[in-house]
Parts: sequence; structure tokens; C-alpha cells
Amino acid sequence: MALAKNDIQKQLHGRDFISLHDFTTEEILEMLNVAKHFKIQQKQGITNHILQGKTLAMIFRKSSTRTRVSFEVGIYQLGGQGLFLNSNDIQLGRGEPVSDTAQVLSRYVDGIMIRTFSHDEVLTLAEYATVPVINGLTDLLHPCQVLADLQTIQEHKGELKGLKMAYVGDGNNMAHCLMYGAAKTGMDIIVASPEGYKPNPEVVKLAQEDAEKTGSVVKVVTDPFEAVAGADVVVTDVWASMGQEAEQEARAKVFAPYQVNNQLVSKAKSDFIFLHCLPAHRGEEVTAEVIDGPNSVIFDEAENRLHAQKAVMALLM
Ligand code: CP
Ligand code: NVA
Repeated sequence: MALAKNDIQKQLHGRDFISLHDFTTEEILEMLNVAKHFKIQQKQGITNHILQGKTLAMIFRKSSTRTRVSFEVGIYQLGGQGLFLNSNDIQLGRGEPVSDTAQVLSRYVDGIMIRTFSHDEVLTLAEYATVPVINGLTDLLHPCQVLADLQTIQEHKGELKGLKMAYVGDGNNMAHCLMYGAAKTGMDIIVASPEGYKPNPEVVKLAQEDAEKTGSVVKVVTDPFEAVAGADVVVTDVWASMGQEAEQEARAKVFAPYQVNNQLVSKAKSDFIFLHCLPAHRGEEVTAEVIDGPNSVIFDEAENRLHAQKAVMALLM
């Protein structure tokens, strides 16, 4: 079943997917529409080979379960092929420049997904690649995850505009991207992080500018109870991200008051939903009673990585 291309779809073709900040509200809502469409098609057993004959290179400098599997399965379901490239197995890991890698891969494949540490590396890859580049997570941002999060919130809560999201924990890649995603779609977001672990001020500023346009609020506070009060959506993430393993113990002490537990979520709306990008550490950033409780939608969220990324690939490639 082919999609009739509308103007927004035309303007997304050939673009990179590096930050949600780069897209308009309408473009993000269109990605969510297509993601929903792919999910319905898949549940109905309808085959859609819109990317037949296309190849996606997937470069990983960090571990992954969801991103790797959902991209690989997603491109296969769309009739194309995914190429898993562990950075240690390709010359990139031995110092071949990102710029050369980008130009070489562009001669073979139709899209490049990369998960890496430095956000600048993704920007360089995109600068030199002649095919769309998809950000599969950097230390700064994780836009694929947040697109799936928005899809999940839409499914459970309907319209995004006017909802209130609370993010509790490290001011990391997830916090940054959720601020962009919320601001672009008109959701209020309050991020509660301890001193020294607050989100990047430049990201906060850009998200606040976006929020002004959609009439929402982006706020950073220190008190987790202030963030969660009256929230429709409660989100957290690990206290030590990939690459911060050595800080694990020190962070556990700082973040202990930021654990998402029953006492904290009792301040949210009674029908709040709980999101976590996973992998999660039960007993650290979230208790089992919350993440495995009735308000948790973490496995819908994980599933939606597949549908949302199929939308991104289909629209860009
Ligand atoms: N949430 C997420 O990106 O999971 P992976 O690290 O398993 O890809
Ligand atoms: N903040 C986490 C997200 C993992 C999907 C990390 O970067 O490790």
C-alpha cells in the first residue's frame, strides 16, 4: 500500500535526522502519522516494501539492543537491507576519517545510521555524506527514541499539545531530546536534575524558543516533586550513560533523591504514564513497583522504536 506523498513528505525526502530541533512541528507530526500508519499496517499483516532495494549502513560505536534490532528489522520489513557495522570492525575504528567514511559509504548505501559518543562526529558524517544520516544516539541527543516516545504518548493520551511531562534525573541525551520533542509538539516539560547534572544550557535555550512558538513551557528545576506534580507523563533514564561507567558510584549517591518511586509518582495525575527508554536499572533510577506497575508503558515504547524508525527511513530515504 503506497503512501500518497504530501508536501510535508516531499520536504522531508533526502534530509538528515540528527535532532528534533531541526524539524517543524508539522514535520514531526507527519513522522508520527506515518509511524502510526506503519504500525496499523503491520498489525494487519500488510506488507509494505517502500524501500525495496535500499540499504542502510548502521555504524555502532556503543552497545545497543533496541536501536540495532529495530533498525535492522525495520529496513527488512520495508523491503531493504540493513548493514551492521561495529566501528571496531571497520577502518573508522582504526582512525580512517569520518569524512572519508561518509563519502565512501555514500557510494554504496542509501542511508547511514550512526550511534556514537561525539555529536560533532554525526555532524561531520552528515556534512560529507550525500545520503541521509540518522542519529542513533550521541552523548548529546537521542532523537529516534524520543520520536517513539511521542508516538507512545499519543497512543495513550491522544493529543500531545497541552500535556505535562516530567523528566527526573540526569540532564543527558534523553533529557535534551525530550525538551526538543515536547517544545515542538506543545507539551509542557519540567526537568528535575541535581546541581552539576542539569541539561546543557544551549539546548534549554533552543527548546524554550521552540516552546514559545507552540505555547508550551520548558523548565529546569532541582526538586523532583516540583517536576512530577500534576504530570501526565513521567520519564527517567539511567544515572550513568554509556561512556560514564567510571562515574557510576559517585552518580548513584548524587541521584539517590531522584529515584522514581511510588512516593514520587503519587504526586502525578492518577492516570499518568511512565516511560523509560531502557535499559533500566530497577532499584536505582526507578523502582520495580513503578516500572513494572500499571502506569508503565515501557514495552509499547520499545515496540514503537520499530514503527517510528520505519517512518523516518521511509520519509528520508
Ligand atoms: N533505548 C535504546 O536506545 O536502547 P538500546 O541502547 O538498546 O539501543
Ligand atoms: N542515556 C542513555 C540512553 C541509552 C539508550 C545512554 O546514553 O546510555
